[in-house]
Order: sequence, then C-alpha cells, then structure tokens
Amino acid sequence: MSEKLAVPMSRIQHITTFYKTFSLTPKGRHEVHVCVGTACHVRGAQNILDTVEEVTGVKPGETDPDLNFSVETVSCLGCCALGPVMVVDGEYHGNVEQAETAKVLKDCACSQEQ
Ligand code: FES
Repeated sequence: MSEKLAVPMSRIQHITTFYKTFSLTPKGRHEVHVCVGTACHVRGAQNILDTVEEVTGVKPGETDPDLNFSVETVSCLGCCALGPVMVVDGEYHGNVEQAETAKVLKDCACSQEQ
C-alpha cells in the first residue's frame, strides 16, 4: 500500500494504529462491543461483559482462535438511557440482561453453523 500510494510506511502505520476502526490482526466474524461508560457501568455493564466472556470465551480486546468473536469495550455509544448497551455486528441491544446477552451470542454462533 505504501508503494502503491507513494506514502511512507511510517505514515500508514501511524494511521492504522491511531484509529480503532483499523486492525492489524484478523477480527472474528462477529464483533461484540460492550459499553462500559458510566451510565452503563452503574446499570450492570460488568455483568454483561462477564456473560460475553463466559459465552464466547473471549476477553475484551481479544479474538478467539477460530475467528468467531472479537470483543471490545467502548466508553459510550451515545445511547446512555438504554444502558447497559451491547452492539453485536452493528445491531444495538439496549437494557440487556445476562440471559438476553447469552441468547444473542448463542444465536450468532448457531447462525454461522448453518
Ligand atoms: S455510557 Fe453506555 S451508552 Fe453511554
């Protein structure tokens, strides 16, 4: 890319490591974002995060070896009134509880098996 665009490699690395949207490691088929901002935290975000880790086996900032799930925490998704909030593959789940979290993630896992 550096050669093709005639841009120094250092500049490309700067951009790819600065923006969270870019990743230098492969991501899972399903991306899970759990908000741990203040509003979500006081409404039980840690329980949601624990359930995500329990169901997927993936800790925040990691991807499982089979590339099924990538899990990230975010500071705020801009919909604090819906907290705790989780986003799975771009779909927002507000006021989520542990049982719903597990169901959403298991449905993801099942949909890729079909
Ligand atoms: S703190 Fe979670 S959406 Fe704002």
